[in-house]
Formats: sequence, structure tokens, C-alpha cells
Amino acid sequence: MRKNSGRDFKNAWEKEYEEKKLVNLGTEPQEDTKRFVKWLRKDRGVILENLKVLDAGCGNGRNSFYLHEQGSVTTGYDIASNVISEAKNRDRSLNFFVHDMSDELKFADDSFDLVLDVTSSNSLNSKDRQKYLKETFRVLKSGGYMFLKTLCLEGDENAKYLIKNSPAKEVGMYKLPGTEITEKPFTEKEIREIYIEYADFLKIEKKFSYTRMNNRSYKRAFWIIYLQKK
Ligand SMILES: C[S@@+](CC[C@H](N)C(=O)[O-])C[C@H]1O[C@@H](n2cnc3c(N)ncnc32)[C@H](O)[C@@H]1O
Repeated sequence: MRKNSGRDFKNAWEKEYEEKKLVNLGTEPQEDTKRFVKWLRKDRGVILENLKVLDAGCGNGRNSFYLHEQGSVTTGYDIASNVISEAKNRDRSLNFFVHDMSDELKFADDSFDLVLDVTSSNSLNSKDRQKYLKETFRVLKSGGYMFLKTLCLEGDENAKYLIKNSPAKEVGMYKLPGTEITEKPFTEKEIREIYIEYADFLKIEKKFSYTRMNNRSYKRAFWIIYLQKK
């Protein structure tokens, strides 16, 4: 059987952004990202002016633009070229480029103060996730922050249903019905085991919210995680 390649993911996400069956990002920043940025400023005393931010799997750049408005120097990448064109057309002064998370980044070590991963890397299988993490934490400065919002398995009946009824090649992952998009919902144990090698957990909380898919609303669980590189 053919391995799911980066090209398959690219096509799947580009198709999704054309058809907008599942993902409708809007232009406003994501609320959990805004809360994280507020915490960074108030609780950690981080100055946002000139902060170097990498938005991994940035979609249309809605969170990149928010950080840019706060004075940060923002770079965003995504595998889907159509959504990167949309971001570039909104404002050409930001740096957006097409890139697969599992490939090497063109930046030097310790280039960024903050990485955003807002429901992006949960599309990767475990092998690609390892490559992504190695590269991401290479370009993040020691003491730098990561905001991670990712899918949670515990308490998410829809995730369990999808793993059973629409399984992807990797055990514990599913394919979103009608698409080639794969997703991995994590247990807390898995998340802690994956990230502890790279970072300290400053906050981890579970959050439920409703997402729309094919005109129906589904209750989904997410991890909201604040990390600091060791
Ligand atoms: C649910 S969207 C979230 C977008 C954005 N982070 C936001 O919050 O608006 C997930 C994004 O991850 C991107 N993505 C998925 N797999 C990727 C990969 N291998 N490399 C780069 N981007 C990827 C998708 O194209 C999509 O834009």
C-alpha cells in the first residue's frame, strides 16, 4: 500500500480550502491564541514588540496578523499554497511561505522567541511529528515559548468514533470523512511523553468546543498547552 506522502496532505488541505467543508478560519485571531498572548505579556512579562514569532501551519495567517499587530515580527508557513496566497494578499509586509512541517526549515538555530501551533501538527503521523519537533525546537531559542492547541482523545466521543469507523493507516489516527486529511487526538500521557524531551509544561488544560463538519455540529476536546523550551 502506498505511504501517505507530503503531496497527499498538500492536495488534501488545498482541496479543503477550496471547498471549505470543514475548516472555516475567518480573519479574526483564534480566542485561545489571544488568551495565550495576554498571559505571555501579563504573567511572564514578555514584551511583544520585535518578538520573533513562527506560526507553524498558519492557515490564512489569522494568528500571525494578530501578533504582527502587537509589534511582533511574524513568519508563517503552511503546506497549502492557496491559503498562503490568501495570507500574502492580505498584507505583503509579513513573511509567509509554503512549507511542509516535516521538512527542514531554512532558519538558523535559535531564530525564534515563540512558536504557534494552533491545531496544525495534529495532522502529522508520529514519524513526521518527530521530524517537525526536532526542527521546530532547533529554531526556537532556549527559554522561548510554544503555544500548542491540539486534539484531545480523553472525553471526545467523536474522536473515538472516527478512530473506529474512519481509521487512518497509523493506529490511533483517523481520516476526516470525505477527505484525505488525517488527525491524531492525544491522551495527556502521550502529550507529556512527546514534549517533555524538548520543553517544560507551564500550563495544560482540556477544553471542549463545538466544530462544524458538513453542516453538523460536533463536540470536540482540545488540549491548550503552554510550553517553554528547556
Ligand atoms: C485547522 S488548520 C489551522 C490553521 C491555523 N493554525 C489557524 O489556527 O488558523 C490546520 C492547518 O495545518 C496545515 N497543515 C497540515 N499539515 C501540514 C503540514 N504537513 N505542513 C504544514 N502545514 C500543515 C493545514 O494546511 C492547515 O492550514
